[in-house]
Amino acid sequence: MEKKIAVLPGDGIGPEIIKGAIDVLQVIEAKFDHSFEYNYANIGGSAFDEEGTPLSDKTIALCKSSDAIMLGAVGGPKWDALPVSSRPEQGLLRIRKELNLFANLRPTKYFPSLAPASPLRQEVIENVDLMMVRELTGGIYFGTPSERTTIGGKAGAVDTLLYTKEEINLVLKKAFEIAKTRSKKVTSVDKANVLESSRLWRECATEMAVQYPDVKLEHMLVDNAAMQLISNPRQFDVVVTENMFGDILSDEASVLTGSLGMLASASISEAGPSLYEPIHGSAPDIAGQNIANPLATILSAAMMLRISFEMEQEAQLIENAVDAVLNKGYRTKDILSADTTLLTTSQMVEQVKAEM
Ligand code: NAI
Ligand code: MG
Repeated sequence: MEKKIAVLPGDGIGPEIIKGAIDVLQVIEAKFDHSFEYNYANIGGSAFDEEGTPLSDKTIALCKSSDAIMLGAVGGPKWDALPVSSRPEQGLLRIRKELNLFANLRPTKYFPSLAPASPLRQEVIENVDLMMVRELTGGIYFGTPSERTTIGGKAGAVDTLLYTKEEINLVLKKAFEIAKTRSKKVTSVDKANVLESSRLWRECATEMAVQYPDVKLEHMLVDNAAMQLISNPRQFDVVVTENMFGDILSDEASVLTGSLGMLASASISEAGPSLYEPIHGSAPDIAGQNIANPLATILSAAMMLRISFEMEQEAQLIENAVDAVLNKGYRTKDILSADTTLLTTSQMVEQVKAEM
């Protein structure tokens, strides 16, 4: 199969970890007789330095004409003093909007060989395997008005949480479709005891469940969900929720396995290209030292193969190789523990390739 991939390495460790993922994708090309075209472009601080903007129109056009996008990470102290509109994070917000990336998918998986990395007890996190599905382009982060205002003569501020049924159904459908390929359970998280938008969300979920008789739907209030995620995370399969709840819960879920350098994500578009990136940031403190963990980015590439290209076997080859490398005790510095072997970024990539 021929595919066009836009590659946006970004800042900090971005270029190092992206290189690892592309190396691994090249092994996939050779083994399965695919042909991927990689087109590189800037995003974030490096884009600001070279093009005067954190995300240029040219780069957006490149992304839109690609089959998928691989992103490293953006940001760093070098650009902290810039005005908000020029900051690296604006590149991320803009790309989500421009490409209509309505759902963010974050798998959280227990890696048996990394158990000591979690702040939680092993018996709690053992065999955790959940998928957070966060609505990404609506809700309170985008609703208007969002401004300073005067309320009864007193200075205040307002933000607006609003959703159309169409937006809710789009992300719910994605969650149900994913659940069909997993353990067939969807937990829809809301605050229906307080918020009208949540009551609408709950109605939509209940209606949609009728179309998926083999998937079990459960509703959960967000405060309870926050507690259940750390007290009994094994009960979850697919968790779907609105933008702000998802922002908070997905960060919470990401520490279950205690390894930022391991976790992948996908931001999905309905018709156009989707975007794949590790959940961690640009780690400026370790940039350029060849010590960053490339596995989150490599696993993001596997998600791209599975979701955007429907290459399940290829995705599994990468995921199995990562498991095997960890089982052999190979570690980058961030996940090093007693009796394991320290590798550099590039050595880790070589081990994954060898395993494949
Ligand atoms: P961070 O995720 O970059 O780093 C947090 C800690 O984890 C650091 O000690 C870092 O060295 C370590 N770390 C992160 N990824 C690692 C990896 N692959 N291997 C080994 N260690 C790793 O978060 P932080 O420090 O809060 O932010 C740094 C910059 O990244 C900021 O400018 C922030 O805005 C940006 N950022 C960008 C994101 C993105 O591009 N999606 C997401 C989060 C933060
Ligand atoms: Mg966040």
